[in-house]
Amino acid sequence: MLKRPRRNRKSAPIRAMVEETSLTPAQLIFPLFVTEGESQKISIPSMPNIYRWSLDTLLEEIADCQELGIQNFAIFPHLEENLKDKYASESSNPEGLYLRTLETIKSQFPKVCVMTDVAMDPYSSDGHDGIVENGKILNDETLPVLAKMAVAQAQAGADIIGPSDMMDGRIGYIRKALDKEGFTDVSIMAYTAKYASAFYGPFRDALDSAPKAGDKKTYQMNPANQREALIEAQADTEEGADFLMVKPALAYLDIIQILNQNFDLPISAYNVSGEYAMLKAAAQNGWLDGEKAMLESLLSIRRAGAQIILTYFAKEFAQYFQNP
Ligand code: PBG
Repeated sequence: MLKRPRRNRKSAPIRAMVEETSLTPAQLIFPLFVTEGESQKISIPSMPNIYRWSLDTLLEEIADCQELGIQNFAIFPHLEENLKDKYASESSNPEGLYLRTLETIKSQFPKVCVMTDVAMDPYSSDGHDGIVENGKILNDETLPVLAKMAVAQAQAGADIIGPSDMMDGRIGYIRKALDKEGFTDVSIMAYTAKYASAFYGPFRDALDSAPKAGDKKTYQMNPANQREALIEAQADTEEGADFLMVKPALAYLDIIQILNQNFDLPISAYNVSGEYAMLKAAAQNGWLDGEKAMLESLLSIRRAGAQIILTYFAKEFAQYFQNP
């Protein structure tokens, strides 16, 4: 036998030398949930170790994470039902929870990178990402609401705007609105290929943001489709996106791969709430080694071609990275 691939696996130093994929906390974005109140740290049953924080405790959590080397955070708001309406008006209220939170984070931690969420669902009484009229999600009428939200977030100090709504044309519409207001340096990470997925369940529990009626299939993508992701990526690239995201991650590694092969922008992947919940549940039952399964999953997302990963494992990974 001339070829013995096992020779390149024979010892730890050789395995380390030939390792093709790596992961550091610098490549991670940690999603965090904020809610009203003080001294709050509310557990989310389907997401062990993930909490809804009030602004004061959120700041402590960010300080903690920063010590561990996490520099990027994606913030999501949890709103009381009485603040929600048909037009998501609360999303651009400068006194509202979300914009106050962004502003405070940036003033206390000027060096951290803060990414936002642009979509109507956390603020919408219909629980949809766009305006609902007679059961239909209106596309063009939703764009100004999203743009207003994005500009307000930029005003509050956001580094990266994250449109997660899947309305057509929203990247260009938001880019123009940001530029018009002078926010030419504020980036956009487009949720480019966002699928209509069952893996968002725990997130919707965390935010109480599930649709009140219907589903999201007229705007989020069909899990059966791969080629359609290229159409979305083409549009987002032409409209001025700075990053292209695939979401979810683990069930969509092929999508990460084709976007990485076909586009030059950095690719990110959102390792979503349900993917986190699955591993946590199995680990809690003693059915999997939680740490090893986390590392393997995150690595698979990087190997598929994602430069950046949004993941609820960010803090746990950073702890492991400091102390393997
Ligand atoms: C909503 C939004 C969702 C997630 C991020 N932004 C849920 C949805 O589309 O219903 C899901 C994230 C996760 O599951 O971790 N605009």
